[in-house]
Amino acid sequence: MKKQIQSIGVLTSGGDAPGMNAAIRAVVRAGAYYNLKVFGIYEGYQGLIENNIKELDARSVKNILNRGGTILKSSRSEEFRTEAGRKKAHQNLQQYNIDALVIIGGDGSFTGGHIFSQEFDLPIIGIPGTIDNDLYGTDYTLGFDTATNVVIDCIDKIRDTAESHNRLFFVEVMGRDSGFIALRSALASGALDVVLPEEDSPMQDLFNELEKGEANQKTNKLVVVAEGNKMGDTFWIADQVRDKYPHLESKVTILGHLQRGGSPSCLDRVLASQLGVAAIEGLLEGKSKVMAGLIDNKIVFTSFEEAINKKIPLNKELLRISKILSI
Ligand code: F6P
Repeated sequence: MKKQIQSIGVLTSGGDAPGMNAAIRAVVRAGAYYNLKVFGIYEGYQGLIENNIKELDARSVKNILNRGGTILKSSRSEEFRTEAGRKKAHQNLQQYNIDALVIIGGDGSFTGGHIFSQEFDLPIIGIPGTIDNDLYGTDYTLGFDTATNVVIDCIDKIRDTAESHNRLFFVEVMGRDSGFIALRSALASGALDVVLPEEDSPMQDLFNELEKGEANQKTNKLVVVAEGNKMGDTFWIADQVRDKYPHLESKVTILGHLQRGGSPSCLDRVLASQLGVAAIEGLLEGKSKVMAGLIDNKIVFTSFEEAINKKIPLNKELLRISKILSI
């Protein structure tokens, strides 16, 4: 018979995302509700290797629901990729009698969690925490909604100055090799065009959209560029456009890590609370090597393997709508 879980550890790993604190709070408080001991593991897997572990109670997580970043801090640990690193990590868990883990992070964090869980027969549940929204098994990952709200707020501001000077702006957004942030924010900010990693669109398509914009007397032109697109670097794209249309004044704005900060949106706080409780209840029910997600407003557990490897297709309908409305 499986050992009854009495004590769990929680950590945040990979790129931070707004809503991670709300998820930590939910995990700690749900743990307390079910009479579990809860340990916070600081600085992700690296902290686990370095024994950076502290017990948390319901009051340790007060006033964090509304805060961006992660109070547990995060890291991308190279050492945890090695067998020796994971062995040290496991020894530290044993020292505190931690018998299950909740990992809040993205695909890289779940890959590490999956291996760790297999090697040491340790129950682990993941909570999707990444602004990229690139995990299969949930409609939204934590931080995606907040990040896209940050992006549209920035693009609204860029629009003001673009309109005043009749300028063309290329706005680069994050998302690694997926275009969820780009597509959603392009639609929500009324961009003229969007360059996505999921599309193999040639430069000529962009030229066509720009010419259409000119013909339709668009005075400002905003193009959202996903960082992982196949066309090229955003500055390079802007150079090609400058060469072809010297009369268009083209500017580039890279939004960068701005997108990862700020107070989480209502959607992210609610999602974090739901997934935090689901993770604890899932562990108590004997689940492991799965990610807790929300699909059509229902909690769904998806195996780590599927969450990491299954591709989420681009929402072509959003792209179609964006094209119709950007004339
Ligand atoms: O995965 C989240 C993310 O913000 C990506 O969108 C981006 O490509 C990457 O992390 C940046 O990573 P770092 O903060 O380590 O530079």
